[in-house]
Amino acid sequence: MSTVRRDLLHRYGEAPEGETPDVALFAQLAARGSCRRFKPEPVLPALIDTLCALALASPSKSDLQQRDIVIIADAAIRGSINTLLADQEWIKAAPHFIVFLGNNRRQRQIHEWRGIPFANDHLDAFFNASVDAGIALSAFVIAAEAAGLGCCPVSVIRNHSAEISTLLGLPDHVFAVAGLGFGWPSQRPHMSLRLPLSATVHRNRYTECAKAVVDGYDARRNGVFPYRSQRGVARFGTSPTYGWSEDKARQYADPERADFGAFVRRIGFNLR
Ligand SMILES: Cc1cc2nc3c(=O)[nH]c(=O)nc-3n(C[C@H](O)[C@H](O)[C@H](O)COP(=O)(O)O)c2cc1C
Repeated sequence: MSTVRRDLLHRYGEAPEGETPDVALFAQLAARGSCRRFKPEPVLPALIDTLCALALASPSKSDLQQRDIVIIADAAIRGSINTLLADQEWIKAAPHFIVFLGNNRRQRQIHEWRGIPFANDHLDAFFNASVDAGIALSAFVIAAEAAGLGCCPVSVIRNHSAEISTLLGLPDHVFAVAGLGFGWPSQRPHMSLRLPLSATVHRNRYTECAKAVVDGYDARRNGVFPYRSQRGVARFGTSPTYGWSEDKARQYADPERADFGAFVRRIGFNLR
């Protein structure tokens, strides 16, 4: 059996039929995991620039190119980001940190410069820029991991959207979607198990995911990498069947970034 098929079987508990083509990138993606432990050695600036170039070569809605990247090279700015994100200790030790931005400002400027009205001041303007930024982040991660680097996205920067905007000098209609910590990994990232493909890949029409499928995933995942502790024990007690679904339900039993919509409106987006 190919290593790709073996890794897919491990991750999903099932794998696509037939032999998997022998493509190096397939093996990389099948086995990948987020990395939060790094060697101290820096990544050459030229390689970081190349990864940004590769990331921004990814698809972009209507070629509008509504995403940018900020490379944090200034120690004072990095220190301020580390302080804001102090809850996540690994971030401080990540040798490099970059921020993926959604940028709908340039499009609006183009309308001003060309004297043509902007007729898309609605939710889709925000959504397109966010998706474009996410695609660039994904491409950066794939390219970085192919070069042997380890990466982990950081959405907790959006817990501090206003402060991050001030630190990075972001104007209206430009916003941080996610940060990314990266460097040379000091240990092989853990491969996390995913929901079965039969629940997440649909054929022609959406099929509802049964509770039994999620229960089965919880059990399979616990068999490989059980949770070491439970969230919210004071509120929910100790669960004998604690697994992924209980953990995610408890996580989202508390509001997270409930003020983000207000922030997005404040920087000029009309989300109607
Ligand atoms: C948009 C996005 C934001 C994320 N934000 C954080 C974060 O703030 N902190 C963190 O430690 N991991 C973060 N992650 C990493 C996820 O926790 C990780 O991808 C998930 O647990 C699955 O693990 P894997 O990537 O190793 O498969 C983020 C991932 C994505 C895609």
